[in-house]
Amino acid sequence: MSKKILFIYSSVDGHTLKICKHMMAKNKSLATMNIHSLETVTPQDLDSNEIIVIGASIRYGNHRKELYSFINKNVAVLDKKNAYFFSVNAVARKIEKRSPEVNTYIKKFKKSVKWSPKKIQVFPGKIDYPKYNFFDKHMVRLIMYFSGGPTDLSKSYEFTDWKEVDRFADEIIESDI
Ligand SMILES: Cc1cc2nc3c(=O)[nH]c(=O)nc-3n(C[C@H](O)[C@H](O)[C@H](O)COP(=O)(O)O)c2cc1C
Repeated sequence: MSKKILFIYSSVDGHTLKICKHMMAKNKSLATMNIHSLETVTPQDLDSNEIIVIGASIRYGNHRKELYSFINKNVAVLDKKNAYFFSVNAVARKIEKRSPEVNTYIKKFKKSVKWSPKKIQVFPGKIDYPKYNFFDKHMVRLIMYFSGGPTDLSKSYEFTDWKEVDRFADEIIESDI
């Protein structure tokens, strides 16, 4: 019987979802893959998959608070599974801020949940200025300006290293259940 993997995403603009779908496509012949947003996943979904991968993006310095309440509510079942977490943010475009040990948002994550995932990964996300509303566009540009990032409002910038995503997907598929 093939492994069953459940991807759960917390995504505002769709990039975390894209990363989940990339991982699903990479190993689709090796496991049964299921995917749900944080809003639609049910306790039955958690129960019926051996491997659980939760991915969440950062906005204005935080993962969504619903992510923390979801994890803390389901920590008992997550602890029984092979469960992984990844965070998607723009700060991680800088290699020295990408490792989970130094990434600010992972430090906050660890303080906010009672769960220790089997592995935590950080992926650089995407800045998609044309897609943002006026306020977000200018706020993100300000954040980028102060951190030495790109500021051309007419462009999109994808920082994700897809080979890194592939490696994470391979680790997940190889995990013993
Ligand atoms: C309004 C807004 C605020 C953001 N704030 C941060 C931030 O504080 N730190 C950071 O590293 N990235 C920040 N980002 C970058 C996002 O984490 C990045 O765009 C990510 O790819 C979004 O993933 P999603 O499409 O799954 O929501 C922000 C993006 C937007 C649009």
